[in-house]
Amino acid sequence: MTDVKDIIRHYSNGEITIVWKPALCIHVKYCWKELPEVFDPDKRPWTNPYGASTERIIQQINRCPSGALTYFRNDEQQKTPETPVTPQPVVSEITAEAMVGGPLLVSGNIAVKYGDNVEHKSGPTAFCRCGQSQDPPYCDGSHAETNFNV
Ligand code: FES
Repeated sequence: MTDVKDIIRHYSNGEITIVWKPALCIHVKYCWKELPEVFDPDKRPWTNPYGASTERIIQQINRCPSGALTYFRNDEQQKTPETPVTPQPVVSEITAEAMVGGPLLVSGNIAVKYGDNVEHKSGPTAFCRCGQSQDPPYCDGSHAETNFNV
C-alpha cells in the first residue's frame, strides 16, 4: 500500500504539467473553490488540466500556500529535467488574509522568527490559527479535523 507521503500525481495539458502532492495539502481549498473547472474533488481524476487556459491554471497554482500544487512547463522540463519550475508571483507588498476555519495566509517575502529559528518565505505562507498544528507556527491542515470555524 502506498503511503500518502509518497504520492505525487501529474496532470498535463501538453503545455504544462500540474504536480499534486496530497500530503502537503493544508485544505485551504483555494484551488477547487476558485477554479472548479480544473480542480474538482468530487471527480476522478480530480484535476482536469484542460478545464482552463494554461495561464489561468498557473495563476491558481501560484495561490496554493502549501506547495501541494506546483507545475512545470513541459518544454522547460525537457531542457532541464532535474529542475521543476515553480515561479513565484511578484509581490510588492505583504498581505494577510484570515481564512474562516483555517489559517492566516501571508503573501509576500517575509522572515518568520519562531524560537531561535528564522526562516525566509516567499509566496503564500499559511500560519496556524486553530492551535492544532503539529508544525507550528505553520498550518498543517489539522484544522480540517476540528470544529474550528472562526
Ligand atoms: S489553522 Fe490549519 S492547522 Fe491550525
